[in-house]
Amino acid sequence: MPSSAFRTALVLAAAATPCLGQTTTSSSAITCATGIHMIVARGSTEAVGLGRIGVVAGNVSELVPGSSVDAVVYPATFDAYFASEGTGVLAMTAMINEYTAACPESKIALIGYSQGGQVAMDVVCGTSETLFNVTADLSDALAKNVVAVVTFGDPSHMSGMPWNAGTSNNTGIFQRNNTAACEPYNPNIRAWCDTGDIYCDKGNNRTIHGTYFSYDHYVSQAAEFIVGRYNESLANSSSGAPTASGTATVSPTVSSTGGATATTAPPVVGQNAAGSFRAGGVGMAGIVAVVGVAFGLLL
Ligand SMILES: *[C@@H]1O[C@H](CO)[C@@H](O)[C@H](O)[C@H]1NC(C)=O
Ligand SMILES: *[C@@H]1O[C@H](CO)[C@@H](O)[C@H](O)[C@H]1NC(C)=O
Ligand SMILES: *[C@@H]1O[C@H](CO)[C@@H](O)[C@H](O)[C@H]1NC(C)=O
Ligand SMILES: *[C@@H]1O[C@H](CO)[C@@H](O)[C@H](O)[C@H]1NC(C)=O
Ligand SMILES: *[C@@H]1O[C@H](CO)[C@@H](O)[C@H](O)[C@H]1NC(C)=O
Ligand SMILES: *[C@@H]1O[C@H](CO)[C@@H](O)[C@H](O)[C@H]1NC(C)=O
Ligand SMILES: *[C@@H]1O[C@H](CO)[C@@H](O)[C@H](O)[C@H]1NC(C)=O
Repeated sequence: MPSSAFRTALVLAAAATPCLGQTTTSSSAITCATGIHMIVARGSTEAVGLGRIGVVAGNVSELVPGSSVDAVVYPATFDAYFASEGTGVLAMTAMINEYTAACPESKIALIGYSQGGQVAMDVVCGTSETLFNVTADLSDALAKNVVAVVTFGDPSHMSGMPWNAGTSNNTGIFQRNNTAACEPYNPNIRAWCDTGDIYCDKGNNRTIHGTYFSYDHYVSQAAEFIVGRYNESLANSSSGAPTASGTATVSPTVSSTGGATATTAPPVVGQNAAGSFRAGGVGMAGIVAVVGVAFGLLL
């Protein structure tokens, strides 16, 4: 897939400065944000675009003028979950690569819900979950621009991690084996998972996975966390990096080509009975069963 296919045109053009350079592989121009640039991966079966976790990006855009948002283009399906997630990892990594090539001074936040949360964490920490294709952790060259990573309901969630938020004490259905690979990024990561979430907590309450967005304190804590890391990264920069007090007057609308906006919720995922989890021939329950069998064989 050409790298340009991974991109959607989402930059808040009026709030941005010219690029310092362009990648040769991208046919679409990248406009460098004067604020923070957010790359958002939606959850399984959410409509193409930002998905519900786009509300966090919207709140960040309100707090930091001149920010921009881009949605990861990937299948986000429950069926063929492993390949879908792996496609998301490659796509998000390619987007970071392209953006930092065009905008070397950029400050980037990665945001993901559910499968998209696993995508964001795999991009940063590498993929080490059983049954997924192995990928390396984020290179230093790309990691220096990534100032924050926020996830809700990540199935690769691990208990006891210093970056955890929410009420979960358990580990998700796709446990992350190599958490040490995340540790260098620890201050930049915040991962929400609540007790009972069937994916990130191996829980038994099908409602909880879809409730993170209804908790204003989670959404605002996530946005504040990103802005706090952004502020700190600016304070750390000695070379006159862009400031948080941009000159943008554009309204902080977050949009995505063919997708949901930050204020328009796509169909709810994970709030209904088992049937709503089915995106195709094989539902998540089937995948969990397959994983259970696989673990049984491996163990
Ligand atoms: C976050 O965005 C939502 C939806 O636009 C809005 O209702 C809420 O007030 C915002 N919260 C903050 C803290 O900006
Ligand atoms: C792993 O990578 C191979 C080769 O690119 C691909 O065909 C396969 O679908 C991938 N599998 C998963 C689970 O991502
Ligand atoms: C991950 O850990 C589990 C449990 O210890 C183990 O069965 C599995 O082989 C590990 N997978 C990888 C990819 O290391
Ligand atoms: C999770 O662990 C904390 C700290 O040990 C404890 O206070 C809390 O009750 C636990 N929650 C659940 C649901 O077990
Ligand atoms: C599932 O979680 C929701 C949201 O927290 C709660 O309202 C509901 O009572 C829970 N259901 C069960 C059976 O615990
Ligand atoms: C970030 O910096 C701005 C501008 O200095 C300040 O108004 C805001 O309170 C800071 N926010 C956080 C979360 O640090
Ligand atoms: C800023 O610098 C401090 C001290 O070196 C470091 O601990 C912190 O992680 C840095 N923050 C960011 C966002 O780069």
